[in-house]
Amino acid sequence: MQNKINTLKPDLLQKIEQANNLTALDEIRVAALGKNGAITVLMKELGTLPVEEKKQAGQVLNVFKTEIANTLEAKKKKLEEAEMNAKLASQKVDVTLPVRPNSVGRIHPVSQVMEEMLTIFAQMGFDLAEGPDIEDDWHNFEALNIPPSHPARQMQATFFMEGDSDKILRTHTSGVQIRTMENKKPPIKIVAPGRVYRVDYDATHTPMFHQIEGLVIDKTTNLAHLKGVLEEFLKLFFETDDVKLRFRPSFFPFTEPSYEADVGGSLAKSIGKEWIELLGCGMVHPNVLKNCGIDPNEYQGFAFGCGIDRFAMLKYGIPDLRNMFDADMRWIKHYGFLPTDIPTITSGLSLTAGSKK
Ligand code: PHE
Repeated sequence: MQNKINTLKPDLLQKIEQANNLTALDEIRVAALGKNGAITVLMKELGTLPVEEKKQAGQVLNVFKTEIANTLEAKKKKLEEAEMNAKLASQKVDVTLPVRPNSVGRIHPVSQVMEEMLTIFAQMGFDLAEGPDIEDDWHNFEALNIPPSHPARQMQATFFMEGDSDKILRTHTSGVQIRTMENKKPPIKIVAPGRVYRVDYDATHTPMFHQIEGLVIDKTTNLAHLKGVLEEFLKLFFETDDVKLRFRPSFFPFTEPSYEADVGGSLAKSIGKEWIELLGCGMVHPNVLKNCGIDPNEYQGFAFGCGIDRFAMLKYGIPDLRNMFDADMRWIKHYGFLPTDIPTITSGLSLTAGSKK
């Protein structure tokens, strides 16, 4: 028995040592300890030995069997560990959640266009001015040379506060002209963006919309300056040099003379028109200057007011104004701007407008 073990042992130990994966190791285990394994065969042989040899041979064989079983077990643990390490090294576990694409917000075209306009006017040296949405009669009408009985009030039918007829939702941003001139001596050069309100509702009119007002007051400010500012603004805003500007005589109580400014050129052609009505403008009426304590014999200037929503529709091809304020996610996903693809209008210049009023 001892002889047999002596030949079997080094062979088995060497094979176990050399096994380099779990399958190979298991084959060795079966060849040694399996049903017909070498050690199992020896165990069976024990039974054929004479009684006096049996006891000693049995002990030797058991020690050998245990040694082989332990060596196999130790080697198995070693191989399992190596396999686990190899697996960890080759596989990367991604513990991050994917970004939810729908949670990225969009910038509303009105906000986008307002920003574009302000950037351009800031580059031209305009300050930013603001006024309240709930305006009083003086700033919205009276000081703008629109007395209570004036028919121009009819054109701007608005919302009145119940129980306080002096509080209205402003019908235009022109009241900011008054607020600015009441608080500041010329020279004045401001733009005033904001929400305005009128009782209208169709494809190009909503009860709430946005305007931007411009006001320039100085000693020699004239119509040519107005035309120059508007032309430059339109070229920058619509990103084309092919801009034709036409002043059509019109009427506003707070400007004299008054004009509707129309734009022609490629922009109008792109929507099948020769001219597009864009905005109202004119030279500030002497009565308005007087109402604000500014001497019209010393100072003069121009004002203009235009719909931001209308400009957004034109620039970004939006057909119906009403959808802008429906808060429909499909609409905002289609027309809104991702923070990453905001169109830039000029190379890297940013808003530098002065203090808010
Ligand atoms: N406030 C006028 C409107 O809302 C526009 C305008 C502004 C006209 C300034 C002339 C000067 O229709």
